[in-house]
Amino acid sequence: MTSQLHPAHPAPTSAHHAPVVRTIRHNLHEKPFIVIWETTRACALVCKHCRADAQHKPHPDQLTTEQGKALLDELASYDKPRPLIVFTGGDAFEREDLAELCAYGTEKGLHISLSPSVTPLLTPERLHEMRVAGGKAMSVSLDGATAETHDAFRGFAGTFEATVEAAQWIRDEGYRLQINTTLTRDNIWEAPQMLKNALDMGAFMWYTFMLVPTGRGADLRALNPEEREDVLNWLHDVSDRIAIKTTEAPQYRRVAIQRQKLREEGIPIPAQVAQRGKLYDYLTEETTRLLGAQAAAPRRPRSPMAVNSGSGFAFIDHVGDVYPNGFLPVHCGNVKETPFPEIYRDSEVFRQLRNPDGFKGKCGVCEYNTICGGSRSTAYAMTGDYLASDPTCMWEPELTKQ
Ligand SMILES: C[S@@+](CC[C@H](N)C(=O)[O-])C[C@H]1O[C@@H](n2cnc3c(N)ncnc32)[C@H](O)[C@@H]1O
Ligand code: SF4
Repeated sequence: MTSQLHPAHPAPTSAHHAPVVRTIRHNLHEKPFIVIWETTRACALVCKHCRADAQHKPHPDQLTTEQGKALLDELASYDKPRPLIVFTGGDAFEREDLAELCAYGTEKGLHISLSPSVTPLLTPERLHEMRVAGGKAMSVSLDGATAETHDAFRGFAGTFEATVEAAQWIRDEGYRLQINTTLTRDNIWEAPQMLKNALDMGAFMWYTFMLVPTGRGADLRALNPEEREDVLNWLHDVSDRIAIKTTEAPQYRRVAIQRQKLREEGIPIPAQVAQRGKLYDYLTEETTRLLGAQAAAPRRPRSPMAVNSGSGFAFIDHVGDVYPNGFLPVHCGNVKETPFPEIYRDSEVFRQLRNPDGFKGKCGVCEYNTICGGSRSTAYAMTGDYLASDPTCMWEPELTKQ
């Protein structure tokens, strides 16, 4: 499924000769690696940061069961390996036909994961039904380390306890559990404890989202570039404790390569990280206090994947509108009118996003732009231009590509 980096940028390899960043072997101009389908925008929660500005009732134009099945047919029409599919929302469990859709897609050869909200609709019975229908992995969100902070973020008392309970049910049902955390300036101080929570909950992956100032998230405080760099270095440190994935922080892949290069050049990691800021020191010390200086049973860090908005990644919203990403509200077509594969392959926006040398400013000339490319959603949210350089990146490119 994966290969080395773009030939112009040979992938540094680890001691095990695995690429430090994995790129997708198939042609990303033709076929996405992962497709997120917002099955509904209805959701009982009122999270402070919600990109979807979710509502309590489904939209009247939401894709019907039949339209959903037609979409799954299109996604299944790709040759193998087919794109991974995630059913999300809003709250996917608000759809009564969710198991029918999951069974239909699974039958057609799709690998479907679920990203619901934790509400009273998430029950052991519903989890079982979805597992029988073929659901593989499931993520739940944890945005604070305690009931006080998580519930304040999610807008409902009791959500933290319910999430811990749901995590146990999800694992009991045999799903792979993923914990999603949106990191902001306000909750970053709890990140080491949230890491511990994710480990205690038995998660196989911690998926961190950098807050994108879009939807209701525009009212929250995002990390600044220096803080992000500290957080990404810290996340790379702890990737021997739990598999780490980052969303809207593709610079994590640059950090992974830079650290590997330093290792290969014989510069011990502490020399590099010593240049990190106070936040890095805090996160490291707090992690050591909570979890010990080293992972009890260190795991081989999972190499991040070079997939970015519109380039391997696509988002289909509740009414069938297609976007390069759920956090990038630039409309590219609708599956009720145009087949999804055509939109992914031919839309001008998608095509531009697959050409990082066409990005503006430093992202256009950066030596890491084929594996990073900056958060296109953040660039758009902050500048109004999805091709602008990512204002949250600290890296000053060596300009080798000019
Ligand atoms: C589509 S939601 C998953 C479904 C579910 N509604 C939930 O929130 O758990 C996927 C992830 O995006 C995160 N998210 C939502 N709005 C965001 C924003 N503005 N910036 C960054 N992450 C955001 C959520 O916290 C969640 O972990
Ligand atoms: S300058 Fe742009 S492409 Fe380069 S590392 Fe930063 S965000 Fe990524």
